[in-house]
Amino acid sequence: MEVIIKDSAAELATVAADIVQRLVHRKADAVLGVATGSSPVGLYDELGRRVAAGTLSLAGCQAFMLDEYVGLAADHPQRYRNVIETELVARTDIRSERVHGPDGLASDIPAACAAYEQAIRDAGGVDLQVLGIGTDGHIAFNEPTSSLGSRTRIKTLARQTRIDNARFFDDEAQVPTHCLTQGVGTILEARRIVLLAEGEQKAEAIRQLVEGPVSAMWTATALQWHPYVTVIVDQAAASRLA
Ligand code: F6R
Repeated sequence: MEVIIKDSAAELATVAADIVQRLVHRKADAVLGVATGSSPVGLYDELGRRVAAGTLSLAGCQAFMLDEYVGLAADHPQRYRNVIETELVARTDIRSERVHGPDGLASDIPAACAAYEQAIRDAGGVDLQVLGIGTDGHIAFNEPTSSLGSRTRIKTLARQTRIDNARFFDDEAQVPTHCLTQGVGTILEARRIVLLAEGEQKAEAIRQLVEGPVSAMWTATALQWHPYVTVIVDQAAASRLA
């Protein structure tokens, strides 16, 4: 696991965008794994700037989202599908129909989860997975006690995650209670993983990820098993590292 500590959000975004750009220059039809939330927004902005400058094109790429809330209306602005349209599709030249996500409105949820796993396999697997990390150490929405071998499935969101994500809604009561999420086992199959984190509120999760024992109580620690992980953090998120 490589850990890169930078001083500013802009530097985090630049390092991550360089990794994406190098991959896409080598493999124009790369399969990207994309996170939502605050952590990757700077990266998506930077990718947008490079696309606008003509130095990068994501037009040949596909993307697979990590997770989706269950039950949010199709036009709800916080539905992750809509968030990724705003944050990534609208800013770059990746094509909307080549961005895939788990169906949080499916009537048969187990079938939708199995279909999503199959779609990732059919695409040849994820070349580069972009991750954030929850304050409780979750990756995607694999909350504490999730199986480290888990696959895409429905999960109950932890109280802490609903509190953390209330900032995107009117209040905590509006945050959905359930989500569909790629499993830890699904994520570990990506060929390369880049995890972004900023701020003191992520410091303990980053300490556990980098220095803690592998544990289902901090599901991000399973990334220690992966051969090619780059963790890009600011000074505050790195502040509890030894
Ligand atoms: C979002 C996701 C989550 C977030 C995490 C951090 O698709 O999978 O694991 O990455 O909750 O969220 P932010 O970046 O908003 O702090």
